[in-house]
Amino acid sequence: MTDTRSLEPTMSIASPDVGEAELHRIHDVLRSGHLSGGDEVDAFGSEFASYCDVAHGVPTSNGTTALHAALEGLGIGEGDTVVTTPFSYIATANSVRHVGATPVFADIDPETFNLDPERVEETIAARDGDVDAILAVHLYGCPAPMAELREIADHHDAALIEDAAQAHGATYRGDPVGGLSDAACFSFYPTKNMTTGEGGIVVTDDDDLAARVRSIINHGRDPDGAHVRVGYNFRMSDIAAAIGRVQLEKLDDYIAARREHASAFTEALETSEIVAPVEPDGTRHSYHQYTVRCADRDQLREHLERYGVDSAIYYSEPIHEEPAYDGFDAVMPVAEQVSDSVLSVPVHPDLSSRDVRAITLALTEFQQ
Ligand SMILES: Cc1ncc(COP(=O)(O)O)c(C=O)c1O
Repeated sequence: MTDTRSLEPTMSIASPDVGEAELHRIHDVLRSGHLSGGDEVDAFGSEFASYCDVAHGVPTSNGTTALHAALEGLGIGEGDTVVTTPFSYIATANSVRHVGATPVFADIDPETFNLDPERVEETIAARDGDVDAILAVHLYGCPAPMAELREIADHHDAALIEDAAQAHGATYRGDPVGGLSDAACFSFYPTKNMTTGEGGIVVTDDDDLAARVRSIINHGRDPDGAHVRVGYNFRMSDIAAAIGRVQLEKLDDYIAARREHASAFTEALETSEIVAPVEPDGTRHSYHQYTVRCADRDQLREHLERYGVDSAIYYSEPIHEEPAYDGFDAVMPVAEQVSDSVLSVPVHPDLSSRDVRAITLALTEFQQ
């Protein structure tokens, strides 16, 4: 056993990187007097859309309201069915319920933690083809199998939506996530791959959908100023957008650092009983989380703690087992088993090379 006393104190699971550049831009916005509804929001929307290689970006107050607006913009509402994953942050399924539709869960792939297309097909078949949308999550930054899901969605004339809240900077078959569906939603919560404090965005190539989403998030206002629907205040502020513009400039460096850290951990786990996360062929994982599976997770957590390494469980309950989902009588054996064994360790860009070595050592020295 190595003497762990010389190692750094706790390496936390997340560490938002905001500094002088963000401060300067916030200062400029405050001086301008345009704290909301100014040019920063439009500029951030366009810049983020270009990053995703799509035509439109509509910034929102957070990732949950982005999902809500995208679903409503696609016409999903009362009486509609949205097939989605039970293994995600609860906001994914909640957004479906916010628009009055019903989330129907399909089980996941145990290696990628994402929707398993075969289970999606089975779920839809068991409902005699009744599906209005498929909502895929790129969990932990690992791109979901979008080609297969697109085929299923097209076959059933259903919309396809990406919950890319954790996947800024990930790619699928060479294309950025966000441009792989009818509408994609990101979150800029402080722990995410980039942040605006609180914030989100809907990106899409569809001109009409973008116009509807712009209206939905601004109390139903259309470009002429008439309020044509009952909308919401889901707007982003110019202060948040200004932070986002700086963060977007740094996103590629952030993702490169996350990937470098992840690769060191994966190499260390080659001969371990701890199961490293996979990067499916043709994808670039953004490693929002570096999430391992371990039969004795509690023991691993305690071991990491002794080395000063923080860890977190995302998610200890699959969504259908949360009390708010009583009555959703889904049985999802893979999601249930995975939620008992996953553990995330720090992988964020702020880790020093010493931190990475310490985490690697802690993982290597774990014995069940
Ligand atoms: C997968 C997923 N979907 C949706 C959200 C909701 O985003 P927000 O917290 O910005 O509302 C989050 C993040 O928290 C998330 O991780």
